[in-house]
Amino acid sequence: MRRFFGKKRSVEDAVVRAEEGTEDELKELEESELELAMVGPYEIVAPVGRGGMGTVYKAIDRQRDLTVAIKVLDRRYDLDKKRRKRDFLGREILIAASLEHENIVRMHKEILEQEDRDGNIRRCLLMEYIDGHNLGKYIKDRDLSVPQMLDLCIRLCHGLDFLHQNGVVHRDVKPQNFLFSRNLKQVKIVDFGLSKSSASWRTRWSKETGGTRKYMSPEQLAKRSLDARSDIFSFGLTMYELFTGKHPCTATDARELVRQIRSTKYRFQPPSKHNPQISPQLDRIILKTLRRHPSRRYQSVTELLLDMTRIGESRI
Ligand SMILES: Nc1ncnc2c1ncn2[C@@H]1O[C@H](COP(=O)(O)OP(=O)(O)OP(=O)(O)O)[C@@H](O)[C@H]1O
Ligand SMILES: [Mg+2]
Repeated sequence: MRRFFGKKRSVEDAVVRAEEGTEDELKELEESELELAMVGPYEIVAPVGRGGMGTVYKAIDRQRDLTVAIKVLDRRYDLDKKRRKRDFLGREILIAASLEHENIVRMHKEILEQEDRDGNIRRCLLMEYIDGHNLGKYIKDRDLSVPQMLDLCIRLCHGLDFLHQNGVVHRDVKPQNFLFSRNLKQVKIVDFGLSKSSASWRTRWSKETGGTRKYMSPEQLAKRSLDARSDIFSFGLTMYELFTGKHPCTATDARELVRQIRSTKYRFQPPSKHNPQISPQLDRIILKTLRRHPSRRYQSVTELLLDMTRIGESRI
């Protein structure tokens, strides 16, 4: 038992290190022992990342020659008797699976249950596999031109707008939830509307580290009710980082970060201060997404999209 626990921890550590990204770390991740070998008909091939709800694996159904991504949820998402009656996550997955758009990741409606190496029944979410990277890589590598970044943001806005038009607030907009195929032809949003209006989201919130709060809106940090405008703020923080390579907050600890995001006294520098290639129009757009009070921001992604496409067109 102890031995298993030790091994599982080391897999998780390896995934976390691999997300930070060197070749060696990725190799270590691939070589580490997996918590599951199969999920239903799917053979687990390799871990691709680790997040707040569990670990994501690439998996293949060899008979049907079908590749999928499987998110194996952490044990706190196990179904106990009480939760079985009010399975928020199950309901949210059904909604997520009903949505189809070229800029959102396709979800399967079933939640598979599979016994892991320690004999626990684990819940697993299935989705379309995107062979590429998340936006974090492009923020770090800084190898896209401003027009390319703008194009990616416009496509992400189309996906967000579609979610909002269907009554789904993402609630976890951040670079790691934006996926891109290697040639950048596919641009997709993942993890929308999952388990965040429910009790498990509140548990998760309290366990979250400063890293994840980096993209939360002021109202989310104040634990107020959220609407599409909260996603617009989080998208603004993501755009700020993409276009400048920097987060607009300089805080070095979680408390200070929360203060800087929430307080109007802390002024966000125009993105062009960090990247002179950014036009005054784009500065204005990004700063408008980042207004602390929701009623002073863009009121919908449709509105934001209109301004973004205007700059896009004037550049051609
Ligand atoms: N469908 C997918 N196809 C390919 N890679 C994926 C897929 N889903 C997730 N990933 C990769 O796995 C990483 C971890 O995903 P996960 O959702 O578990 O964590 P996260 O996005 O960092 O946090 P959160 O739990 O808040 O969403 C992602 O950042 C992405 O790189
Ligand atoms: Mg995610």
